[in-house]
Amino acid sequence: MENSVIILDFGSQYTQLIARRVRECNIYSEIVPYNISCRELLNKKPKAIIFSGGPSSLSKKNVPLCDKKIIQLGIPILGICYGMQLIARFNQGKVSTSLIREYGKASLQTRKKDGLFANLNSNLTVWMSHTDKVSKLPVGFESTAFTQNSSIAAFRNKEKKLYGVQFHPEVVHTPKGKKVIQNFLYKIADCKENWTMKSVVKHSISTIRKQVANKKVICALSGGVDSSVLSILLHKAIGRQLHCIFVNNGLLRKDEGKKVVKTFKTHYNMNLKYIRAENRFLKRLKGIIDPEKKRKIIGHEFIRVFQEEAKKIGPVNFLAQGTLYPDVIESHSALSGPSATIKSHHNVGGLPKKMKLTLIEPFRNLFKDEVRKIGVTLKLPQEIIWRHPFPGPGLAIRIVGSVSPERIKILQAADTIVIEEIKKAGFYKKTWQAFAVLLPIKSVGVMGDARTYENVIALRAVTSLDGMTADWVKLPYDLLGKISNRIINQVNGVNRIVYDISSKPPSTIEWE
Ligand code: XMP
Repeated sequence: MENSVIILDFGSQYTQLIARRVRECNIYSEIVPYNISCRELLNKKPKAIIFSGGPSSLSKKNVPLCDKKIIQLGIPILGICYGMQLIARFNQGKVSTSLIREYGKASLQTRKKDGLFANLNSNLTVWMSHTDKVSKLPVGFESTAFTQNSSIAAFRNKEKKLYGVQFHPEVVHTPKGKKVIQNFLYKIADCKENWTMKSVVKHSISTIRKQVANKKVICALSGGVDSSVLSILLHKAIGRQLHCIFVNNGLLRKDEGKKVVKTFKTHYNMNLKYIRAENRFLKRLKGIIDPEKKRKIIGHEFIRVFQEEAKKIGPVNFLAQGTLYPDVIESHSALSGPSATIKSHHNVGGLPKKMKLTLIEPFRNLFKDEVRKIGVTLKLPQEIIWRHPFPGPGLAIRIVGSVSPERIKILQAADTIVIEEIKKAGFYKKTWQAFAVLLPIKSVGVMGDARTYENVIALRAVTSLDGMTADWVKLPYDLLGKISNRIINQVNGVNRIVYDISSKPPSTIEWE
């Protein structure tokens, strides 16, 4: 894409953040592995290039190096941390391992008032995380900033359009970092602001129309943000050639099935098949306690139901999926090795290849917050756009132990109260997820004058950016008290509430 910024990933944990920051400047950005060839890179028509940081040290052997020709293209390059050191290395500078590791906040003094540091104070708080540093300037470069620990904390070669910063402008701990990135993009690389969700929608609709022509597309609609926005986008592009399938597996939140039908079938007049499959799922889950087994059973059953229903629609050529950019980067990263399976995720996208359908994935290049913005552009109801993520296996993984219709009913009732109260108190948008978990233990209580021996519910509320890490929310005691009172008084079979105060890691967001 013209006017794009290509980010070479050298394995930094912040590479995705760089991409987001660039997009926040309304400029399209894409992450590629560090070893992309110069020719492949040029095919992407970059207006600017950013080298990410990375965990490697240039003092070691077999470190990730990019194609040297990329540095000689004359396209503006910003190297961050390891990326800066690499630019130094390729231009006869010297990189050495310093005795003092510079980690955390540092005070940066700028030497130049233009370029990266235009319109900024000469003293900036920045965030550092490095051991190696540029100890000798490369030929033709000048140092543009220093810290107590390094006299070359930023450098440039204006003529060759090569820039480097030792600090991380992409993290929020560098308060003026975004301005540094903007200076690079707007002033140095002359990038234009043309990446808006409106333009993305327009482009996606015309691409989908061309690709689909007069054929049929199926899509599994879960009612969550991604599949909802996806369905509406496709509906706008191809109308009733889109066939959505919503599977009620009996593990949904209270009235969720009804709400989805009302929104999509009644309001948007979409081709929506509402499949009641509660009994099938519950039968298979009977007596199952192991969380992984539950996940697998639900995943497989979903595929079976989906395939049966898809067949009834007739010949279909395409399957639309709400795959997001982080999933794509994760599976393509040149540096990431195999990681441990913590949980087998089931989501509506995981359909079998043997269905031989061509995939349509309009969000492959988007982050979740961008999908939400598309939802806003498409005027989706607020309730859908801001809905908390809900796991594919649904309430089954929030009922610790075996799942039964009675236990689902208890959890649905408790969950409704949690969401109602969280919304009333203005915490819904501020939390990533808030929900109830039904525990497999009973506790003794007293109600009226009688002894009770009933279920315990755990409350969970977390903040998170992407679900990868999370913090428990310090909900006000009053609110916790209110939720607890309401659940115990209004939900039959519960006599005790506890609050989960663990973060991820080492816990996970869901209990199973
Ligand atoms: P954990 O529990 O792994 O969850 O910390 C991280 C995020 O993922 C959601 N989650 C799922 N989403 N299918 C999904 O689509 C799944 O199988 C699944 N399991 C967990 C979870 O709700 C949280 O937002």
